[in-house]
Amino acid sequence: MTTSTRKRVLVAGGAGFLGSHLCDRLLSEGHRVLAIDDLSTGRRENLEHLRLHARFAFREHDVTRPLPAGLDVDGIFNLACPASPPHYQREPVQTTLTCVLGAHHLLELARQCGARLLQTSTSEVYGDPAVHPQVEDYRGNVSPTGPRACYDEGKRCAETLCFAYLRQHQTPVRVVRIFNTYGPRMQPDDGRVVSNFIVQALRGEDLTVYGNGEQTRSFCYVDDLIEGLRRMMDADAEGPVNLGNPQEHTVAELAERVLALTGSRSRIVRRPLPADDPKRRKPDIGQARRLLGWQPSVSLEDGLRETIAWFRERLGLPPERSIFLPAVAVAVAAEAATATATATEGPCESR
Ligand SMILES: NC(=O)c1ccc[n+]([C@@H]2O[C@H](COP(=O)([O-])OP(=O)(O)OC[C@H]3O[C@@H](n4cnc5c(N)ncnc54)[C@H](O)[C@@H]3O)[C@@H](O)[C@H]2O)c1
Repeated sequence: MTTSTRKRVLVAGGAGFLGSHLCDRLLSEGHRVLAIDDLSTGRRENLEHLRLHARFAFREHDVTRPLPAGLDVDGIFNLACPASPPHYQREPVQTTLTCVLGAHHLLELARQCGARLLQTSTSEVYGDPAVHPQVEDYRGNVSPTGPRACYDEGKRCAETLCFAYLRQHQTPVRVVRIFNTYGPRMQPDDGRVVSNFIVQALRGEDLTVYGNGEQTRSFCYVDDLIEGLRRMMDADAEGPVNLGNPQEHTVAELAERVLALTGSRSRIVRRPLPADDPKRRKPDIGQARRLLGWQPSVSLEDGLRETIAWFRERLGLPPERSIFLPAVAVAVAAEAATATATATEGPCESR
């Protein structure tokens, strides 16, 4: 699915945080995009700027159910799955089924269409890692019965299914393991550490740090991650490949940075560490560098500024000076505004 040829691309989970940015990116490359999503954690608002785009269509659909008939696509990105712990733990059965049945239905479609499928897996497949930084051949330290298992084990099984389809049906698959990614269009209440801190700081509420705050995370800005997904889809290797920012920060340090960048007077308060919370997280991105020529380029400071500016607007607070605009989103919105709404059926559906 090279950028030089126009393809019909299905983005499952297209109304979510990452999925909506990916739709922007694919449209900016000239592809036709069908986003499907059950809107359980995603929002129509994330795709509102694409509503009249001639090469874009949206269909509300739960991937645990058989896919709509008549789909014919060249490429599939599977991002359909709640990603934040409160969301994926709310309905653990549905989360497990979304990971497993969702991947199965999409892989079947890939097999039938001869399409390539990119599966968004997660750093959570490493669990609470005993190897640091995490390399792709580390097999992980995951509880199969704990509160995070619906997601961690679901994603591990989805990886298994991808490689089973490759072995049994020669279905072309690509698997990426995404590490903590942040940016505009995250939900204010989704319970992820970056959005939590920013929203708490902007509202003047206490910033909740779990445990002593010495646990580490690595934070990748959304534009960098989308670039990695695009490169991986066109790469010659199946993966799995880690995508994330190898710069490691303690959670306490992130809280201080958010306070400084928002100018907030909020206090930092400590709460008990939740069960199975990983202590360290940092990707080894050697494979991504070698296979994709990819590494993150947006600094934590720049990414946080952009994300804070977006949350300010979302929360109805007065804006502060923004350092850069997300160029792809602006270009796509401009194209959508001039597009004639002639597309009456989904661009990826066979006619
Ligand atoms: N953002 C991160 O830091 C991160 C890290 C690791 C992995 N990932 C993976 O990337 C993908 C996208 O994550 P995100 O951060 O955009 O999360 P998100 O919750 O914003 O997006 C997930 C989307 O999938 C949709 N969805 C959930 N269940 C579905 C179902 N049964 N049928 C159809 N749609 C369904 C949701 O409505 C939502 O729009 C997920 O698969 C997630 O596991 C993300």
